[in-house]
Amino acid sequence: MSSHAPAPQRRVTAPELLAMKARGEAIAMVTAYDASMARLVDAAGADIVLVGDSVGMVVQGQPDTLRVTLDDMAYHGRCVAAGLARAHLCVDMPFMSYQVSAAQALTSAGKRVQDGRAQSVKLEGGVRSAPAIRAIVEAGIPVVGHVGLTPQSVHAMGGFKVQGKDDAQAQRILDDALAVEDAGAFCIVLEMVPMELAARITERLSIPTVGIGAGPACDGQVLVYHDLLGLDARFQPRFVKRYAHLEGTVTDAVTAYVREVKARTFPTREHGWVGRSGS
Ligand code: KIV
Repeated sequence: MSSHAPAPQRRVTAPELLAMKARGEAIAMVTAYDASMARLVDAAGADIVLVGDSVGMVVQGQPDTLRVTLDDMAYHGRCVAAGLARAHLCVDMPFMSYQVSAAQALTSAGKRVQDGRAQSVKLEGGVRSAPAIRAIVEAGIPVVGHVGLTPQSVHAMGGFKVQGKDDAQAQRILDDALAVEDAGAFCIVLEMVPMELAARITERLSIPTVGIGAGPACDGQVLVYHDLLGLDARFQPRFVKRYAHLEGTVTDAVTAYVREVKARTFPTREHGWVGRSGS
């Protein structure tokens, strides 16, 4: 490396995220799927950028996350890595890339690190996924767990519904979270669970909980950027806060562009070059 090359900025690590819980410092996580958005969310100060398998829904236009492949995640992982300077890069393990065996899970996780440039991987499930989590952690790859609503089980759950509303379900989710911690995960996502249950889990675990639809007591929060930026006004779930309303902004801007192209008012001479033959 040349002595004039800028020093690469240090990236947020798994041990640093773990230490944030001990300090009581909230963790901000947001999704990204390409380098342009990764650059923006990184500059905005997100601690973790998640290449979620939500890519299947918000980018690929599918009704669920089940068709996302390992190759899709490797591609989007590489794209996002290219845009990051500081944030920790976590890449999701897609459906059927870790459910078969701990050996399959380890091979898939290794690919996320090698091909997808992940610093950690996220996988769904508690007690049932503990052997997979343990195998990946023992190979030196940090793992983020994910319990509560686990979208890869959408058919078993009968839809994208709040989980843990009755005592038996709540106990199962607590057991799942404890199993994830015991297997060695350094962080866990709690999705769509009642606030009191999320608070109980957050108090019991020494690893940080990152909530989505899980209330304010979690150690951190995660949102899909399409939701927080209001890119699809048709999708209005209760757990999302819209920090912008970009669907209208984007539509208005592109409408203005189309109008100007058709009216031949864009481009004008100021958007072009003059060459010798044209002077
Ligand atoms: O795939 C995803 O974006 C996720 C988050 C919603 C946690 O799993």
